Amino acid sequence: MAQLIVLSAIYFSAALASPPGYGWSHSSHTWPQGGQWNSHCSPVSAPEPTATSPATCSATRTASYRPWSYTVETTLRYATALPSPLTLTTAYAPPYSQASTLLPTGLTTTSYSLNRNATTSNDGQYGQSAYAALWAAISYNTSVPFTTTASATPVASNELVYPPALYTPCPSSADACISCYKLPKDFVWGVAGSAFQIEGGLQEDGRGPGALDVNGALPNTDDLANGEVANMNYYLYKQDIARLAALGLPYYSFSISWTRIVPFGTAGSPINKAGLDHYDDVINTCLQYGIKPIVTLVHVDLPFAIPYQNPEFPDALLYYAKQVMTHYGDRVEYWATLNEPNIGYQNYTTGAYIWDAVPNVLNGHAQVYHWYKEVLKGTGQITIKFANNLAVPLDSTNPDDTRAALRYQDFILGIMGNPIFLGTQYPSEVMSTAGVNLTALTASELAYINGTSDFWSFDPYTAGFATSPPNGIDACAANIRDPNNPYCVINTNVQKDGWLNGQASFAYAYIAPQYVRQQLGYVWDVYKPKGVLIAEFGFNPYMEFTKTVEAQLYDLERTYYYQAFLRETLKSIYEDGVNVIGALGWSFADNDEFTSYDQQYGLQHVNRTNGLFTRSFKRSIFDFVDFFHEFVEK
Ligand SMILES: *[C@@H]1O[C@H](CO)[C@@H](O)[C@H](O)[C@H]1NC(C)=O
Ligand SMILES: *[C@@H]1O[C@H](CO)[C@@H](O)[C@H](O)[C@H]1NC(C)=O
Ligand SMILES: *[C@@H]1O[C@H](CO)[C@@H](O)[C@H](O)[C@H]1NC(C)=O
Ligand SMILES: *[C@@H]1O[C@H](CO)[C@@H](O)[C@H](O)[C@H]1NC(C)=O
Ligand SMILES: *[C@@H]1O[C@H](CO)[C@@H](O)[C@H](O)[C@H]1NC(C)=O
Ligand SMILES: *[C@@H]1O[C@H](CO)[C@@H](O)[C@H](O)[C@H]1NC(C)=O
Repeated sequence: MAQLIVLSAIYFSAALASPPGYGWSHSSHTWPQGGQWNSHCSPVSAPEPTATSPATCSATRTASYRPWSYTVETTLRYATALPSPLTLTTAYAPPYSQASTLLPTGLTTTSYSLNRNATTSNDGQYGQSAYAALWAAISYNTSVPFTTTASATPVASNELVYPPALYTPCPSSADACISCYKLPKDFVWGVAGSAFQIEGGLQEDGRGPGALDVNGALPNTDDLANGEVANMNYYLYKQDIARLAALGLPYYSFSISWTRIVPFGTAGSPINKAGLDHYDDVINTCLQYGIKPIVTLVHVDLPFAIPYQNPEFPDALLYYAKQVMTHYGDRVEYWATLNEPNIGYQNYTTGAYIWDAVPNVLNGHAQVYHWYKEVLKGTGQITIKFANNLAVPLDSTNPDDTRAALRYQDFILGIMGNPIFLGTQYPSEVMSTAGVNLTALTASELAYINGTSDFWSFDPYTAGFATSPPNGIDACAANIRDPNNPYCVINTNVQKDGWLNGQASFAYAYIAPQYVRQQLGYVWDVYKPKGVLIAEFGFNPYMEFTKTVEAQLYDLERTYYYQAFLRETLKSIYEDGVNVIGALGWSFADNDEFTSYDQQYGLQHVNRTNGLFTRSFKRSIFDFVDFFHEFVEK
């Protein structure tokens, strides 16, 4: 999951039967690469379900007695590990030995360990003293239980036994075609996580402080969960990777902690060798086990001193990105610059929008893209990850609700999607709103930002409804003091008929498969990318953490979420012509959901009390893998 939950109003949930007449339309598309179907099952003519479909078969009831005997319904089935190691046939960029010539000259390297007593010594701008000073305001009432990297041990075979087979009802007429839909062989499927949420060891090995590190720091330990321990992945990553490989998951998406590489955060400041070595080994361990790494440069965890609105942000991001991409570019095919910056520029205290962040994000992202393509000459693909829980009109017959839904999408996606994917201005709904302090992008800025994402990637957890505020959108948009300004949209997950739109989660990610095709269709039709990556999707069952461990591991709701979402994704590909290139489940394990360890999105459970942080597979991870085994072309 992605972001600090700032204003609950902008986070909402899922939905029920799709109303007709949604405010955007599908145009016809040429068929995306990789699609195939059997001639007897034509996706375009898949029958629509109707309430009055007559039964298509008849059967005779005949009661009879037979000699009784039991049938054993459990057959021992084991997960299939990935073939390993993975030998890359192409380098996606020159190796570091060559690429290093592209780095700024005069770089210095540090290898600090935090000594809080060092603050009084005077050893320069980037000395040990200055490093300790960075941490002066942040300390915790917790500490990491160990500080050595554990080597991986083979995953015990009893952990790889499949749960009882899922009960699969016969497909309805609407789903009859799904069995002949296939995902292409190169479909990017796997699981995701992010540095701050799993690593722990925030103060170890010379890492600098990040803005998120204040959560749960002393003296406010009651406020929020802290990340000082998290899942101890900084020391347990080898085992985490081995476990994913043992289940057969081909892609692992993780993020790098900026301040492990550049502790002071700023352009020109020293590089931390331990940080570089760490992620080098994370990537090599992935390859050793047969897993392809997907790397995000920043997953919310900005350096303490470099929020998006800092004028230094674009150059500081590029400086950090150059380090990462020269070192690892040869082995990484897919990169994301920033995670969900489109919902990451509010003041956490007041909720006010910090508009200066927006051009900085666009510029920083575009600089990294241009440098990777034009200077490093990387042949991998770069994207930027957006948050978006699709807004659907609460009442699709009410034009104000349709406007509210589209306006919400403009504020969430258009503000960054327009310049990056279309080369067009910030949306006019946004620009004409009082209080929105954005300067129109110039033609040369647009030309520079346009096209700086090789595919669309976003985190479409769920969908919800939008309606206009009681005083109307226009009155709200004209009044900077209106409580609903600037969005001027009311979001809800309660349908017009009073029902929730889906099974409740413990936050906003309700189960609403009925809108998945529109979630994907909206971004495909509006932004016309070459492909769409579902970069995160997942479910946090209501108060899962309160259940017994055994009950947490039998997480049928999460399985249902994934199976339904993915089946609708197949329809999106075959019946709507959307080129979905991949899907990554969030998350590979329960983690620090920024404000809480009780918000559990994990496909694995983590034991936080036995000192070992033992991971256990939940049933959903087996079902997740099975879906792809069934539907990815062999
Ligand atoms: C820092 O100073 C305190 C008080 O003098 C001392 O107890 C502690 O051991 C010192 N810590 C380090 C890492 O030198
Ligand atoms: C840290 O503080 C929190 C909140 O007061 C408390 O729940 C937790 O037990 C404390 N941890 C330690 C190790 O003292
Ligand atoms: C956020 O708002 C608080 C309270 O008004 C203020 O002290 C702080 O400086 C603001 N932060 C930013 C980054 O604008
Ligand atoms: C944006 O890029 C596309 C694709 O290269 C191009 O067709 C379009 O004209 C560009 N728009 C602007 C404003 O540069
Ligand atoms: C708008 O942003 C500019 C900087 O981009 C700033 O100088 C100005 O004060 C802002 N205006 C308002 C009303 O916040
Ligand atoms: C954690 O492991 C300990 C020791 O094996 C066990 O007693 C406890 O029930 C486990 N708790 C959770 C929440 O997994």
